[in-house]
Amino acid sequence: MSTVVVTGRIPQPGVDLLRDAGHHVLAWDEPTPISRDELLRRVAGADVIVSLLTERIDAELLDAAGPQLRAVCNVAVGYNNIDVAACRERGVTATNTPGVLTDATADIAMALILMSTRRLAEGERLIRAREPWQWGMFMMLGSGIQGARLGIVGMGQIGVALARRARAFGMEIAYSNRKPCDTAVADELDASYLSMDELLATSDIVSLHCPYSPDTHHLISTPQLQAMKRSAYLINTARGPVVDEAALVAALEAGEIAGAGLDVFEKEPEVHAGLLDRDDVVLIPHLGSATIETRTAMATLAARNALGVLAGSGPVTPIS
Ligand code: GLV
Repeated sequence: MSTVVVTGRIPQPGVDLLRDAGHHVLAWDEPTPISRDELLRRVAGADVIVSLLTERIDAELLDAAGPQLRAVCNVAVGYNNIDVAACRERGVTATNTPGVLTDATADIAMALILMSTRRLAEGERLIRAREPWQWGMFMMLGSGIQGARLGIVGMGQIGVALARRARAFGMEIAYSNRKPCDTAVADELDASYLSMDELLATSDIVSLHCPYSPDTHHLISTPQLQAMKRSAYLINTARGPVVDEAALVAALEAGEIAGAGLDVFEKEPEVHAGLLDRDDVVLIPHLGSATIETRTAMATLAARNALGVLAGSGPVTPIS
């Protein structure tokens, strides 16, 4: 019997898989995130840590767990919370949950595109504020997306899934990526592979789907925002620090872009005060993968990763 420490609440089927395999599961069951001190205490003796993206898994934590630790299984596709090099140095396998949250996250990106361009959150606020209103020819006009160019930064699974949705809405697809995507996928989407400069200068909507790393820290800052069309929108469902939030506020203030739709924030859960009162910004609290089906699939995939490592057959989705 091995000990699996789960650092936060996850859907029960994930916990059941681990328990049914005979492992001792120590799960943090409070609705608020575990404190660092409590986490450092709890991981001592763990064979596997099943982690949430709110927990920093670094050298200190790995050492607090001890030399028997075999795997860190993140319940997220993004793994910027894990020091993968520190895991490697200690022979600890790190895993994430790609694939199972692709559609849910692409749905949220598409929703943010529609909410931003059609001013939906602003309209909802107007009604809830009990303001008098009446249908009007020029009331709250937005921008149509048919024929608009969607510039996707990071053409992984989620970028491609968003592109498919956007094509159904009549959008034209451009993307920027380390390398061109599969020819079959590019052909299906009629997608143009552009440099980041070209993408920023020509897109009506720029949507971020790259992983967060030191290389993508503030990938979107003042020069990039100034390079965008004044009529363009920025959508971020990736990770907050990919965008320099202070620069974004300044760009919105100066009318350098038309608006933004954000699911993630630079200092989550804090949101830059300059964003909070702006009607040209849609703000939602990191809901990319937040469906019952998706979160359940994430929890069970993380559990299967843990079981694979413990059984010696290897994880399903290792971080390469
Ligand atoms: C969510 O943000 C994830 O990375 O899974």
